[in-house]
Amino acid sequence: MSDVLLDVSEVSKTFVRGGLLSGRRIAAVRDVSFRLDARRPEILAVIGETGSGKTTLARMILNIETPTSGRLLFDGVDLATIRTGARRLAFMHDVQPIFQNPFEAFNPLKRLERYLFMTQRRFVASTTQVAPETAVDEALRKVGLSLKEVRHRYPHELSGGQLQRVAIARALLSNPRLIVADEPVSMIDASLRISIVNLFKALRDDLGISIIYVTHDLATAYYVADRIMIMQNGSVVESGDAKTILTAPQQPYSRQLRDAVLLPDVANRAASV
Ligand SMILES: Nc1ncnc2c1ncn2[C@@H]1O[C@H](COP(=O)(O)OP(=O)(O)OP(=O)(O)O)[C@@H](O)[C@H]1O
Ligand SMILES: [Mg+2]
Repeated sequence: MSDVLLDVSEVSKTFVRGGLLSGRRIAAVRDVSFRLDARRPEILAVIGETGSGKTTLARMILNIETPTSGRLLFDGVDLATIRTGARRLAFMHDVQPIFQNPFEAFNPLKRLERYLFMTQRRFVASTTQVAPETAVDEALRKVGLSLKEVRHRYPHELSGGQLQRVAIARALLSNPRLIVADEPVSMIDASLRISIVNLFKALRDDLGISIIYVTHDLATAYYVADRIMIMQNGSVVESGDAKTILTAPQQPYSRQLRDAVLLPDVANRAASV
């Protein structure tokens, strides 16, 4: 096992819109580099205005999108070499996505437990002796639910927050080492957001899972993240320890961001620096 869980090295992604020859080139991600340490699980928040390249970067980490240049290594293995077959499946065990809208992640006509059992069969059944019911119930308990509560229910019978928990439980079934969550709380009622980000903390602390948390929501990022990376026009304009970035931002854009939210705690700290 490599000491570096994820190594993103000078990664860029350029899209061409409207034909290869005459099209407009859009540099969605420019020369981004960062690492996650395998020995010290952390929550890395990726922040930036709309169109700054956050989702494109997340999709490259999930190996759904190919970089135009640069290289991504997961546990020492180049993602370009694991597009198909058994290696792809092993990668999907290790790196799980969580998306913005939990209602889109589930077919409205299927009962929730069917997804959980399907995932359980796909990822886990061959490698463990644990009964499916137990495995699914255990995963749900890690997110504060249980199989009893979820059984026989359809997606629309749960709140957005509950459904996002079910999506996280499903991600946990494969015992991931990294979760890439793209705006996981933006569709969720403000009062429930903190419970989801608290869950991320618990996953980091109790299960040793690293989390890349893509968000617009500076307040939860500041609250939950160990490290923050700020993107603008595809580039990382500032990154580092969450408290330092938000209390003493170096870049005009980071300052604007902080001032826009006026977190009382951050504002106090900033005033006393
Ligand atoms: N498949 C694609 N084809 C062409 N352009 C794309 C594609 N995907 C993204 N882009 C463009 O790349 C840029 C970055 O988009 P991206 O979705 O990564 O931003 P984002 O930071 O996630 O934005 P948001 O906060 O709105 O989710 C944007 O200009 C977007 O229009
Ligand atoms: Mg996005």
